[in-house]
Amino acid sequence: MSRLDAVVLLLFVWCSTAAARDEPVSVSLTLKDAFKEAFVMGTALPDGGLSAAEWELLTTQFAAVTPENGMKPAALQPEEGRFRWQEADAMVAESVRRGLRVNGHVLIWHEQCPDWFFRRGEADAPRDLVLKRLRDHVAAVAGRYAGQMQSWDVVNEALADGEGFLRDSLWSRSLGEDYVIEAFRAARLADPAAELCYNDYNIESPPKRDKATRLLRLLKEHEALPDAIGIQGHWLLGQVPFDDIETAILAFHAEGVKVMITELDIDVVPRNTQGADISARSDNSTNPFPGSLPPEMEERLARDYARLFTLFAKHRDKISRVTLWGLHDGRSWLNHWPSARTNHALLWDRQLQPKKALNAILQSAEIPE
Ligand code: G3I
Repeated sequence: MSRLDAVVLLLFVWCSTAAARDEPVSVSLTLKDAFKEAFVMGTALPDGGLSAAEWELLTTQFAAVTPENGMKPAALQPEEGRFRWQEADAMVAESVRRGLRVNGHVLIWHEQCPDWFFRRGEADAPRDLVLKRLRDHVAAVAGRYAGQMQSWDVVNEALADGEGFLRDSLWSRSLGEDYVIEAFRAARLADPAAELCYNDYNIESPPKRDKATRLLRLLKEHEALPDAIGIQGHWLLGQVPFDDIETAILAFHAEGVKVMITELDIDVVPRNTQGADISARSDNSTNPFPGSLPPEMEERLARDYARLFTLFAKHRDKISRVTLWGLHDGRSWLNHWPSARTNHALLWDRQLQPKKALNAILQSAEIPE
């Protein structure tokens, strides 16, 4: 046995024993290193920059970023032909400079999308004009960052939550299924090297999973199959649908795409809405944990996260990236949706201190053979 093998063996034994005792695995083990043989670990990058301490945390723990808002259509092209590149350029350049992979988010989405795409004067724009605008937007945005992006969320949340196949939106009303097909075609042309992803929430639930499978088949038929499908992963404490998630990973992989977990968080504040439909706001002012999370809840959060990462590691041959939707609790969109409250959905607290959930995940990082 070489010296290196001996060190690795010792470390393995130490880690296994530590895990069994529920102790920190290693102060120096980071999230991105723990899973580096399995998948890339990413996080959301908010607008307006990060503090030095936040950047330090981000680059130590994560290998990829997804700009949270700054590359959405409303941010980049608020008026037809008037692009605002400055902030997105800065975010991409800074991330690349720091050695991070960048996932662009998002080329086509019904939210944060200006009305001008669908209007001509006072009237609805004709189909050909909407199609041209879609192609032009995708070509301009994906083209500008070609060579710098690891991947793109090309279309977000096209599937209906209730009845029907596609969500009723200005995109689907104007172009029907073609809007999804054309967005993927245009993105492939503009940036042939980027991995292209279809991204949606609740697609692990059986009815929406079937629609997502149907969408993948439709795209394949039109030679526009994405490289990956993104299960967003906005779940609720104690209600994470582990079995559905596993079934969905297997089902999507069988369609010939990689699976990404693109916006992971676990909401600890009770709410009535599943998923992440941002129009589903409530004025429920319940804010049960305005300070820190009680220890018993921290434990429950740790258990849910550990079980999720054990599942992800089991399917590491199918999963290429896992991205948390926020660097720490203070940066979570769940502090504002579906109403304003103090949330604790992520792995670091507001003081950038690691939570029990992080340790639990690291302990689950022993990749099965
Ligand atoms: O920038 C304005 C600011 O000028 C204004 O003062 C403030 C007042 O409300 O609003 C700010 O904009 C907010 C923006 O986030 C930037 O912070 C919007 O109101 C708010 O609606 C927006 O929310 C984002 C949401 O998408 C809608 O774009 C969340 O941060 C972001 O986490 C969330 O992310 C989505 C993914 O893109 C798609 N999947 C679901 C996920 C969660 O909703």
